[in-house]
Amino acid sequence: MSQINQVLQEGQQAISQAETLEALDEVKNKYLSKKGIVSSLMGQLKDLDNEQKKDFGQQVNQIKQALLQAYNEQLRLLEEKALAVRLQQEKINIELPGVSFKKHQLHPLTIVQQEIEDLFTSLGYEVMEGPEVELDYYNFERANIPANHPARDMQDTFYINETTLLRTHTTAIQTRALEANAHKETLKVICPGKVYRKDDDDATHSHQFVQIEGLVVGKGVSMANLKHTLLTLAQAMFGQDRKIRLRPSYFQFTEPSVEVDVSCHVCNGDGCSMCKQTGWIEILGAGMVHPDVLSMAGFDPEKVSGFAFGCGVERIAMLKYHMDDIRHFYQNDLKFLKQFTNFEGGK
Ligand code: PHE
Repeated sequence: MSQINQVLQEGQQAISQAETLEALDEVKNKYLSKKGIVSSLMGQLKDLDNEQKKDFGQQVNQIKQALLQAYNEQLRLLEEKALAVRLQQEKINIELPGVSFKKHQLHPLTIVQQEIEDLFTSLGYEVMEGPEVELDYYNFERANIPANHPARDMQDTFYINETTLLRTHTTAIQTRALEANAHKETLKVICPGKVYRKDDDDATHSHQFVQIEGLVVGKGVSMANLKHTLLTLAQAMFGQDRKIRLRPSYFQFTEPSVEVDVSCHVCNGDGCSMCKQTGWIEILGAGMVHPDVLSMAGFDPEKVSGFAFGCGVERIAMLKYHMDDIRHFYQNDLKFLKQFTNFEGGK
């Protein structure tokens, strides 16, 4: 009996002293496994007589239960401790300063394009886009520039095959817009998009650039409407004090055609290096839509008239931000692009 009690006491002590789950496991093995101390006590049964067997067996079972209970309690304690340690280690410090991530700003060309789109949508225009890989038909024929016409030389073209090309101007969107809306007899769209020309790249030329074109068709649309619209655009881009002047020009798809100058926003018209001492800066081409362009698209030029204007977004952006090289827009130099952080959301 004293041997049994001794095993119980030693076992309970060993269990309560086990400080890690591994140590506890070892103690369990030592006392409660098949080859453990408790089993070996059971092994002594065979040497006892029947009377003693019963008593001894009961006692051994009791200490087995007691040790198991002690083990389970210690196990729970150690597991709680381990969890507490883990929670402590994995605690999130909500007071640590956050990792600041950079909010990306818009590309300067996107900013200018959105400014122009915002202005015109606020005036009731719709934004319309079209394919960059375009048919000769929409890019030239429908703009009143037939095959072999010398006017084609004004725009050096990347041809894909005889009938398909990379559009050379957003006027290709204009001719599509006209066709799609002829049944309505009225139209007010702004057409932004990339255009391509076989130019050699330098500080002011790029083989690919962005144009934005405006087009209005309806009853009684006049040159005066065009002039007012262009003034509104010039003032929105370069300040409320700007004036515009129109000079006669030539485009195949407008008649009459004009070149539009804006009074210099740097010197206010006095003359400076920005305006080459003239006080004026050329910003876009425009005119009254040629009657043939209207009738080819299905409008009746006897009933309606229209105006159109087209400008280069790079040119406007270069003037606004005082840039001297168009290539900056395409070189993805972060030092350049990060200068435009002040213009949130294109405003
Ligand atoms: N398509 C002309 C160009 O690319 C610009 C323009 C558009 C002129 C609309 C007049 C009217 O040069």
